[in-house]
Amino acid sequence: MARSVDEITGSKRLRRMRKADWSRRLVRETELTVNDLIWPIFLIEGENRVEDIAAMPGVQRLSVDRAVKAAEEAVSLGIPAIATFPNVAMEKRDTTGSHALDDDNLINRATRAIKAAVPEIGIITDAALDPFTDHGHDGILRDGIIVNDESVAQIARAAVSQAAAGADIVAPSDMMDGRIGAIRDALDEAGFQDVALMSYATKFASACYGPYREAIGTSGLLKGDKKTYYIDPANTEEALRETEADLAEGADMVMVKPGLPYLDICHRVKETFQVPTYVYQVSGEYAMIEAAAANGWIDGERIMMESLLAFKRAGCDGILTYFAPRAARLLRG
Ligand code: PBG
Repeated sequence: MARSVDEITGSKRLRRMRKADWSRRLVRETELTVNDLIWPIFLIEGENRVEDIAAMPGVQRLSVDRAVKAAEEAVSLGIPAIATFPNVAMEKRDTTGSHALDDDNLINRATRAIKAAVPEIGIITDAALDPFTDHGHDGILRDGIIVNDESVAQIARAAVSQAAAGADIVAPSDMMDGRIGAIRDALDEAGFQDVALMSYATKFASACYGPYREAIGTSGLLKGDKKTYYIDPANTEEALRETEADLAEGADMVMVKPGLPYLDICHRVKETFQVPTYVYQVSGEYAMIEAAAANGWIDGERIMMESLLAFKRAGCDGILTYFAPRAARLLRG
């Protein structure tokens, strides 16, 4: 005789609490708020300039004055911080990325302008060299090799220049060994004890960065790949060792990048270290959602919110996402 459902479940019916909106809200375990959002923005030279990025519909490169407006919008939406990425004029790029050290480069000018006009926003800057090199790699290229120690020295100096311009958090995305400790030392020596370090601790050699490279103008430059310094997408233990090393060197916050395909890494990092953990929902992830939504194949808005919630469920404390202003608007009703 077939058992009744009550016999099978022992009368434990999980649907009871799913029956209405009020009961679903009562048992909800994870919540996404605007406090979880970090908005990455792209910078270009000029004034009152806004340029579309083909592979990232809805995302634009902004001149510094427009970036200030974006920062104002972020504050009005309650977004705590923005992260800036520059599209540097081609004639300023060279093999060593020397323009990264210029106190008046595009990143630093944007930081100063935003700090002056919108002091309440947090500013996160990337100290990697790729926007400044003529080969698109994150470090210095010599005889076909991205040289580690020389790159670290250059990146540490770039970080000090960014802190001097007013950056609140320096977030090096280059994956050179020893960069976190070297940047911490350099910042402390220069009197920037209060500038925090967000390590791109587990940055994978992913295919999801394509649209970003279009945005900052490195896609045409990059020769070869970044597999000699980013982590192999197959490796979890190595990602945990990298996180451990970066924390020991002085990282205040750690990041997992890309996002959705690496949710397991987010979960493992948070569970293992219990430190402030962030995730970067990168350009390719954004592009995939936007492309499917534009075709009418998915409900873009719902997928956006579901993907962001998934990061919170996995244990992340915050999310760098190009959806930040749109998600913030929805969250604020
Ligand atoms: C490089 C860097 C990358 C991103 C930000 N900084 C990856 C790369 O070009 O290899 C990717 C961000 C995104 O795809 O949204 N330092």
